[in-house]
Amino acid sequence: MKKLKENLIKPLKLSRHAAMLFAAKHFDYKARFWRNRDLSVIKDYWESRNDDSNEYLHDLIKKRKPKKILEIGCCCGNRLYGLAKEDPSISLVGIDINREAVDFGNERFKEEGVENVQLLHLRAEELDDFHDSNFDLVFSWATLLYITPQKIRQVLSHIRSISAGMMLLELNLDSGANPNILEEFHVGNWKRDYKRILESFNPAPQKINITPIPPEIWNPGGGGASVIDAVF
Ligand SMILES: C[S@@+](CC[C@H](N)C(=O)[O-])C[C@H]1O[C@@H](n2cnc3c(N)ncnc32)[C@H](O)[C@@H]1O
Repeated sequence: MKKLKENLIKPLKLSRHAAMLFAAKHFDYKARFWRNRDLSVIKDYWESRNDDSNEYLHDLIKKRKPKKILEIGCCCGNRLYGLAKEDPSISLVGIDINREAVDFGNERFKEEGVENVQLLHLRAEELDDFHDSNFDLVFSWATLLYITPQKIRQVLSHIRSISAGMMLLELNLDSGANPNILEEFHVGNWKRDYKRILESFNPAPQKINITPIPPEIWNPGGGGASVIDAVF
């Protein structure tokens, strides 16, 4: 246990090959971890629905004037809540791996008479279900960092096929600073060079802007918290 703790606390400096093996081994652990998070933790997310980080996110999203939005890893809809209340004409869908979070959030929205949010129990890896949807924006905060290297390109490519743009708030590796490294494993999270990954798609996004997130808004272990804002 002590050894495991030490390993989790120190950022793991592994070769890409070893890191991929590690992630493949631990993927079920991470999925299980999030699938099984209980209501006490989910309630804390709900309580955060009006905090400064949501104001920060909503200002970014509103600049894009989207009418149809999907959030990946929405928990109980804590980040969708303010957007939904502010503009009932926007249609919002959220997906999450945790069924309790989705059920809890849908109940809260119903109680509050919010009708423009629908939370679904789905994984990021299951975006096929939206192949007929045309979202104006897909966004995700602190969720893609749990997607393994084997799946990330598929997830990003699916997002691109169902939306006019994406906004990711993730651990980002600075393009150029680490020209040989596309992703690094940090304490259970994947930090990635999203710009280079997205630019390798054909066609590449028309525009990608990377903006550091102020530490008072989000200061995750592993660092590099950034908004990756792509227009397809
Ligand atoms: C760190 S929390 C962030 C929640 C919310 N996005 C926020 O910023 O407050 C990560 C969320 O992603 C969800 N999650 C983790 N892996 C997922 C996956 N593969 N597909 C969908 N949701 C996932 C978890 O259940 C959890 O709600």
